[in-house]
Amino acid sequence: MANYLSIKEAMQQGNGSVSIHGWVWRERGSNQLKFLVLRDSTNIIQCVIEKKVVGEEKFAVADKIQIEASIEVHGTIKTEPRAPSGFEIAVKDFNVVGECDTYPITKDQSPEFLLDMRHLWIRSRKMQAILKIRNTVMQAFRNFYLQNSFFEFSPPILQPNQSEGGSTLFEVKYYNDKIFLTQSWQFYAEAAVSGLERLFCISPCFRAEKSKTSRHLSEFWMAEMEQAWIGLPELIDSIEGCIAFIVKEVVEKNPEELKIVGQDIEKLKKITAPFPKITYTEALKILKEKEGMEIEWGKDLRTIEEDALMNHFDRPVIVTNYPKEIMAFYKPADPKDPKTALCVDVLAPEGYGEIVGGSQRDLDVEAMKKFLERDGEKSDNYQWYFDTRIYGKVPHAGYGMGIERVVAWICHLDNIKDAIPFPRTMLRFRP
Ligand code: 4AD
Ligand code: MG
Repeated sequence: MANYLSIKEAMQQGNGSVSIHGWVWRERGSNQLKFLVLRDSTNIIQCVIEKKVVGEEKFAVADKIQIEASIEVHGTIKTEPRAPSGFEIAVKDFNVVGECDTYPITKDQSPEFLLDMRHLWIRSRKMQAILKIRNTVMQAFRNFYLQNSFFEFSPPILQPNQSEGGSTLFEVKYYNDKIFLTQSWQFYAEAAVSGLERLFCISPCFRAEKSKTSRHLSEFWMAEMEQAWIGLPELIDSIEGCIAFIVKEVVEKNPEELKIVGQDIEKLKKITAPFPKITYTEALKILKEKEGMEIEWGKDLRTIEEDALMNHFDRPVIVTNYPKEIMAFYKPADPKDPKTALCVDVLAPEGYGEIVGGSQRDLDVEAMKKFLERDGEKSDNYQWYFDTRIYGKVPHAGYGMGIERVVAWICHLDNIKDAIPFPRTMLRFRP
């Protein structure tokens, strides 16, 4: 067996004999010469097959190679400024590993077609670039909290309660019971915080979103943290530090991928902490004064209002103190302004919407029961959650970050569906 190098390693070697393997990304040729651009997970490289080098018979094989066939190549590498990645391999010998039929994906296909073909489109350079950036985002979140002495935690996916509203629950038949796919780890994190004190997770979450938007998935990944002995101000510092760290990591590790997805790296370099901080009430003021949008105090901000607000910022904005009445039951009233809650959302610029939602957690069982009843929930079903308040409660706070929202923003994607390998939405669960 030859010792195969990745394309990146072969280019680092720069000269002499190399063996590589990969997929045909581009091909063209004449009756004497065949140019193949191969790709692997690391890069692309031009390979030249000459009839007079490989012989008539082998050249006839080369001539039939179609895009996306997998091949192994042995030859000599050298720099070649005219080649797509600056290097070229003069092929001495090659083998077709997997032939390829005429590839169904050609130039300029519709987004829906590419989603139908996602099992093939996933190998495109664009998807590869996005998935590498997604990898950096997830690692950065994890590393940020590991470096700050947090523990990675594994919450259950099958859960008996709602946490983010009953209308978006996915039901699961669980033996003779009916339970739900997780909307968030939160209640389990709040239980564990009395042991581990600082914890995080990155987990799939499920919401039966009935709206067809470019921001909502039915299955998405949420990165969440929960910490004991802190309130909203410390939570905000943590969110801000983590987002700035994620962007810095992508800027450092993925300049090539950012180029492929068409994102301006200079724009991302400016995303540094501190971020602007406003209250919901101040957001309404900006909307009224600068956008002429009159929103009644107490109404949630809709997509159009979030977008209008973000016309005035080029960095993520931290919005706190939304009206208590419209918030989830676990978000406590702010003692300084009790009609608002000690909660925070982070809105991304350029219309990417809410990337983070979090809050200090209410410790007052009676107050929470009242708001659960408002939501039509039986508070008896939450007794186990209230136990965390009855047996040695401590102040604590946490947040969740939508991985796909962050990836869509950082990669400047048109649609959140491209930020996840195999998207699930109201209208799509295949392939
Ligand atoms: O604001 P949400 O609903 O907050 C919670 O679930 C809290 N329990 C989190 C916590 O405090 N631990 O969701 C958090 C984030 C949103 O800001 C958004 O970025 C993302 O999750 N998100 C979605 N992303 C894609 N598709 C959906 N349907 C999403 N729903 C929420
Ligand atoms: Mg939210």
